Amino acid sequence: MTRILGIETSCDETAASVVGCDATGAPAILSNVVLSQIAEHAAFGGVVPEIAARAHVEALDGVIDAALTEAGCTLADIDAIAATAGPGLIGGLIVGLTTAKAIAAAAGKPLIPVNHLEGHALTARLTDGLDFPYLLLLVSGGHTQIVHVSGVGRYTRWASTIDDALGEAFDKTAKLLGLPYPGGPSVEKAARSGNARRFAFPRPLKGEARPDFSFSGLKTAVRRTATELAPLAESDIADICAAFQRAVTETLADRVKRSLERFRDEHPDLKKPVLVVAGGVAANQAIRAALDALCEANGFGLVAPPAKLCGDNAAMIAWAGLERLRHGLAEDDPLSFAPRPRW
Ligand code: KG4
Ligand code: ZN
Repeated sequence: MTRILGIETSCDETAASVVGCDATGAPAILSNVVLSQIAEHAAFGGVVPEIAARAHVEALDGVIDAALTEAGCTLADIDAIAATAGPGLIGGLIVGLTTAKAIAAAAGKPLIPVNHLEGHALTARLTDGLDFPYLLLLVSGGHTQIVHVSGVGRYTRWASTIDDALGEAFDKTAKLLGLPYPGGPSVEKAARSGNARRFAFPRPLKGEARPDFSFSGLKTAVRRTATELAPLAESDIADICAAFQRAVTETLADRVKRSLERFRDEHPDLKKPVLVVAGGVAANQAIRAALDALCEANGFGLVAPPAKLCGDNAAMIAWAGLERLRHGLAEDDPLSFAPRPRW
């Protein structure tokens, strides 16, 4: 069995995982340890880069140990080390990549620098054994994009946000309403008891031919409404969240539909084309339901990895490393590979 140790420290999760693959190519997640720093950042309403970097320094050794122990192996059983090299916060990237380099050099194992977005993009192959090509909707705190995935290392961006990322829109909306960080789960929870019809928030770019996304207008509308209604009762907050989430799901469905149509045009031979949704926002049940309905109506299958593998984790990094390794895409001189915060 081939075993890869993965390390992820690009944002506010300190994560390590061991992913294995047997001779038939079937993968298995042997461990997946994610230590969230939410508590450290909550008081600031968002991730503080310096605090994140220091927390990674303190936690990473223990998290790696825990991942190896849980997988029932030692470094000697590991075939290669994969670490996120970007994009992300530079402090965290330095901690994770330098630690990975040190382990690789000391243990005499290959190092595979991994692009965090590639980790999200390939997760559905780990969880669902998906074949190429497929369409990926990546919705996280830092990214909102649609990517055509045609192979390992073969990604074409078809659409992206022209302003805020979707997770960012959730986080900013939560902050405006005084809901706790991280905003996504708070807004989703509050929306459950709200009346989505009370406010008519905009559907940015809806109906336009370009396939891109925009969310900043939505956040502005929320701010205006919250200011008009202040002080906000709990029911006001619930109604705003419900109306916001409804505007998001409708906008998302309209925007994604453009790319589904293009994908179908480019791959007329595929019987059941697939849309994969990944990133932290993919945990949102209303969004999953809207995408499910959209895919159903357009003859697509929807693949949504389990929530634990949608948000940031190291299993996706280990897996991307494994895919790179077996496709002969390893770097020539990985120990000299510098972190790339804007990769
Ligand atoms: O992928 P992720 O863990 O980290 C990166 O940004 O790479 O995504 C975190 C984002 C945050 O903006 C968070 O508010 C959002 O995902 N999120 C959600 C939900 N859970 C997490 N947004 C909407 N609904 C949720 N249930
Ligand atoms: Zn991410």
